[in-house]
Amino acid sequence: MLENSVKLISAYGGGELFSCLENDSIHASLFHPSKQNGVESVLVGPAAAANLVMLGAGYFCPLKGFHDKKDSFSICDEMKMTNGLMWPIPVLNLVESADGVKVGGYLALKDPNQVGHPILAYQKVDSVESFTDSEMETMATKIYGTSDKRHPGVANFLSQGNVLIAGEVVVKNYSFYEELFPKTFQTAPQIRAKFLERNWTKVVAFQTRNPMHRAHEELCKIAKERVGADGVLIHMLLGKLKEGDIPADVRDSAIRKMVEIYFEPNTVIVSGYGFDMLYAGPREAVLHSIIRQNAGCTHLIVGRDHAGVGDYYSPFEAQEIFHSENVCNALEIEIFEADHTAYSKKLKKVVMMKDAIDHSPGDFVLLSGSRVRELLQQGRHLPPEFARPEVAKILMDYYQGLIG
Ligand code: ADX
Repeated sequence: MLENSVKLISAYGGGELFSCLENDSIHASLFHPSKQNGVESVLVGPAAAANLVMLGAGYFCPLKGFHDKKDSFSICDEMKMTNGLMWPIPVLNLVESADGVKVGGYLALKDPNQVGHPILAYQKVDSVESFTDSEMETMATKIYGTSDKRHPGVANFLSQGNVLIAGEVVVKNYSFYEELFPKTFQTAPQIRAKFLERNWTKVVAFQTRNPMHRAHEELCKIAKERVGADGVLIHMLLGKLKEGDIPADVRDSAIRKMVEIYFEPNTVIVSGYGFDMLYAGPREAVLHSIIRQNAGCTHLIVGRDHAGVGDYYSPFEAQEIFHSENVCNALEIEIFEADHTAYSKKLKKVVMMKDAIDHSPGDFVLLSGSRVRELLQQGRHLPPEFARPEVAKILMDYYQGLIG
């Protein structure tokens, strides 16, 4: 048999992809079962649990565990770890108290998202350090651009506790994700395997936390064509969102329906990853690019208000961050910068606004996830300019259930 000679993009950092999953893990020997007997256990917070699932799924390669205080400050200040690797948002295990946790020892990390709190991972304790409240606020400002507690990401960040447990981890499982999303949750190695099966070497990734409206659909099609890609990875976030966002199972059905009817067969892979939305705008966009490079994608679409919330970021700030040398030199994945995409009443189709030079503002119907949710919450019909009728039906049924 001929060996598969297809070569995918390197993992982030330039090496081979690895994950921190037990059995798969390059440092599993650190966690020999004898070291796990009688270890202290800690119930981790939801953010640390989400980080563990990402580490286990290979999306945070080449990280091997949780950052320490020095790395946290370095990442916040310069978007670089102390070893020089560009990293946008510290990956932290923050707890209220680490009484009884011994530096140099091992810890069992219990899953806050599962009944009975089973063990999600083991951690080697390299250090236990505290942040002052003012250090936490400074870090929030650097990551989120604000320390305003009305920002949902900031509120979560500041509610975690100030005690930081750093060190390498071995992850035992993917928490609830495989059971809840058996068709959709996939790890970075699993996605790479799918690309290899299909001989896809040029793949555009689309990050989303929304059911896909018409602008989303068109962005994927335009990016695929302009990049000359073999296919599109629609990679949805399956973790926690802010209140009012649409739950993952509803989004999943809506997206699958849209792909089934409105995309050419075998041009799209629908998949998801187990992480919570941070709403950190530009820095989260950089994290999104690392995640997609690890999943084997060559391009990531970054459009209007990527990973944004409210008015905390300017509409294209998440594109601008990729222009800094530190960021673009570190990444092999390229960014497809999408302009504001809207429905043209003149052309009767969805276009990137910069491509419609003869249009005036009144010729467009502006599309956004927030506007879609607003209409649905008011019990109103989603017009075809906003959503495909089959997608609109799934969403309206869900909202009807909510409204009663
Ligand atoms: S996100 O928080 O996951 O980024 P969302 O699912 O709404 O939110 O967006 C997915 C991607 O589509 C992001 O890159 C976003 O910038 C882009 N996007 C969404 N709506 C538009 C639009 N109308 N015009 C251009 N880009 C858009």
